[in-house]
Amino acid sequence: MERKTIKDLLTDYKTILHHDITVMGWVRAFRSKRFIALNDGSTIDNIQVVVDFENFDENLIKNINTASSIKVSGELVESQGAGQSVEIIAKKIELLGDNFFEELQSTILQPKKHSLEKLREQAHLRFRTNLFGAVFRVRSAISFAIHQFFNQNQFFYLNTPLITGADAEGAGEMFGVTAFDLDQIPKDENGDIDYTQDFFGKKTNLTVSGQLEAETAAMGLGRVYTFGPTFRAENSNTTRHLAEFWMVEPEVAFNNLEDNIDLAENFLKYVIQYVLEHCKTDLQFLDKRFAEEQKQKPEKDRAKEGLIEKLENIVKKRFKRVSYTEAIEILMNSKENKKGKFQFPVESWGADLQSEHERYLVEKHFGCPVVLFDYPKEIKAFYMRLNDDGKTVAAMDVLFSGIGEIIGGSQREERIDVLRQKMKEMNVDEEELWWYIDTRKFGSVPHAGFGLGLERLVLFVTGMSNIRDVIPFPRTPKNAEF
Ligand code: 4AD
Ligand code: MG
Repeated sequence: MERKTIKDLLTDYKTILHHDITVMGWVRAFRSKRFIALNDGSTIDNIQVVVDFENFDENLIKNINTASSIKVSGELVESQGAGQSVEIIAKKIELLGDNFFEELQSTILQPKKHSLEKLREQAHLRFRTNLFGAVFRVRSAISFAIHQFFNQNQFFYLNTPLITGADAEGAGEMFGVTAFDLDQIPKDENGDIDYTQDFFGKKTNLTVSGQLEAETAAMGLGRVYTFGPTFRAENSNTTRHLAEFWMVEPEVAFNNLEDNIDLAENFLKYVIQYVLEHCKTDLQFLDKRFAEEQKQKPEKDRAKEGLIEKLENIVKKRFKRVSYTEAIEILMNSKENKKGKFQFPVESWGADLQSEHERYLVEKHFGCPVVLFDYPKEIKAFYMRLNDDGKTVAAMDVLFSGIGEIIGGSQREERIDVLRQKMKEMNVDEEELWWYIDTRKFGSVPHAGFGLGLERLVLFVTGMSNIRDVIPFPRTPKNAEF
């Protein structure tokens, strides 16, 4: 007998109707000791197993509870009841694992709706819930769509190192990597740590971005992208920051800023369209949950669109492209700013934008995704291309409702003298980055790229509100369980 997934049974049942099939899964509910709702993770939907208990051992039936794992064989038939297309008439049931049911009842199942925080402490049961099942199936679909988009557009997937000697963003928020015995760290004659004696013979850290390495590859392969774990030791306990997250970074030779913005917009639309097409049942569930959650909020804080509607609008509407200078004007003249409603008032050109400002532009002012470009050079990284005005750089940030910045990128400074000057001004070590500067010596070309935080996109697509709930094992300040 061939084992099927529940997804197979529910979508593809025509040819196997009235055949005997076998499924394995976890019991979601056992109603009247007659109807088992069985789920195996392949889809959010359960299959109903009809149990005629007179045909089964009494002890077996007694031991089947919520969360039990079972193997069921039986005939697949058209369902008599409403709500499902097919069901299984059980002929054989095997209990697969022990179920510490009392422990389960007293801890996890007790509160009717266990909080999302509580579930974060339950590494495995979290995946067993409808909500997290949906979130992680959608996350998987998003990752697949990302690879598919780049593959279809002739990009090469590039793996950049997790351990690196470079600080790409120059923000200094890095986790060090060392093989030193921390109780006996070698010092040089000045009393400084002697990294020449460490494993790599130099100071190393976990990467904050694969961009600089991706740039070297783009100078030969043309179009590349990275997609991997990224680490930031910023101590920001927000709903949008993780210490370990996944970043996607395309880097394209011969692209300018406008090409880069076009790529970002097409890319986001492609991935969201893919999820709309391939994750229908999960999205319907998330859409309902999102609507319920909005009802709990005061009227003024409610989202204007439903979740699916919001995603459809992303695909349909053109993103609004606005220069930083225009955006600052809008923000300075906004009612919010004048009435002191921003936590960080916007006072003058040059101010860094906070998430509250980004969200004001997207949610209140424009009502659609916004791409800001040409930022003051002082608030952006050293590698961004200096514009002719001498004050701004060819940077771009894509801003989404509820999230703020979802993508950050730029055209890169390809002129070696300008790059060196910028590095000097911003205290970036030229010796450390000799290999990066070298890319500007031998056939340097205009090029551009950006970084998308995968979890911020998953947050947006699933309508969840905390970034910790869209990554399987969140790493945040004071938290590295499992
Ligand atoms: O804007 P960021 O810092 O840009 C870079 O790292 C560039 N090197 C990218 C490039 O041009 N290749 O980060 C890019 C994106 C942000 O827009 C955000 O979505 C995400 O990465 N991100 C984070 N996501 C979760 N937790 C954090 N701590 C994040 N920091 C950045
Ligand atoms: Mg950024």
